[in-house]
Amino acid sequence: MTAFRNFCSVNNFVFGKGSFNELGTIIEKRRVETPSFFVYLVDEVFKGKVLEQRIPLSGDDFIIWLGTQDEPKTSKVDELTQQILNDYEELPAGVIGIGGGIMMDYAKAISLTLTNPGPSETYQGLDLIKNKGVWSACIPTIAGTGAEVSMTAVLSGPEKKLGIKCDYTVANQIILDPELCEGVPAPQRFYTGMDSYIHAVEALTGHCRNTFGDAYGEKSLEMCQDVFLNYENIYHPEADEKLMVASYLGGLSLTYSQVGVCHALSYGLAHVLGTHHGIANCICFNHLEDFYGEYVGEFHKMLELHNIELPQGITKDLPREKLTEMANVAYALDHMWLHALGDDWQQKIDIEMLEALFARL
Ligand SMILES: [Fe+2]
Repeated sequence: MTAFRNFCSVNNFVFGKGSFNELGTIIEKRRVETPSFFVYLVDEVFKGKVLEQRIPLSGDDFIIWLGTQDEPKTSKVDELTQQILNDYEELPAGVIGIGGGIMMDYAKAISLTLTNPGPSETYQGLDLIKNKGVWSACIPTIAGTGAEVSMTAVLSGPEKKLGIKCDYTVANQIILDPELCEGVPAPQRFYTGMDSYIHAVEALTGHCRNTFGDAYGEKSLEMCQDVFLNYENIYHPEADEKLMVASYLGGLSLTYSQVGVCHALSYGLAHVLGTHHGIANCICFNHLEDFYGEYVGEFHKMLELHNIELPQGITKDLPREKLTEMANVAYALDHMWLHALGDDWQQKIDIEMLEALFARL
């Protein structure tokens, strides 16, 4: 008998240019229900910028500025959780991430670890969280990761790169304001937007696909194609708006479908070399014609149109054991392989084949 999962989604969302201005009103309502402070996790790129002045701080609210040099780590989640618990006698009324996938994943993870003791690495996996987290909000300032809507907070731990995945991980509130993406440099815009394109391609091409996931995936794919193939440049006035919605729909397509080969490889690459998710996906997808055929051709066209030169040969000087480590991290993501290759995926891929794939990057 098929086991149907009872998924939950974001409770509230606001969309539109200038919608960030609603944040103050939204959290004041929360403050009435839970009279406490709010913690903001904000990309340090906004320090001293106009956005900082627009954050509606009040009472004991405070901002933790975070860099984006590293992908989110379990050790950093533990450190920040401890900092909040040590400095205050009560739990915050909410944790709000403002930035890209890194800030949003930190916000979602810390909202959970504030109410679930122990090192966060013990929660990497499906449904390992016991208690509901504190209220959380995600406010993307770059479009494509789908982190704002996904039920996972992806973290790199000592052993593996894997999400804390459960119903409680889903943010309570999201604000999708395309104006916040305005200052993002073109290559970063491209790599992060491609995360959304690849989510759609992977969701639409695997064994777990279904009508529900397809509906979101198809629209997301169409919007990414519009932005990256039909617009004359990446700063087209509608690009941010479309990418923000494509990211949201791409994230939803994964809720009832799955990511596949590209994400499995990209996690392996990120775990060993620390390569950021968007660019890691692009580096891997570039070599996946055997799995994603015409979509890889379309991706090459997008690279060309936007003058993106992907890094080449990033694994060529790595010792064999590093390739094996990458292969092991990727191979362990069985849910992705099962979706991409079917129930008998272990007959179709092995560690040696994965090492060979990594060696080509
Ligand atoms: Fe992704």
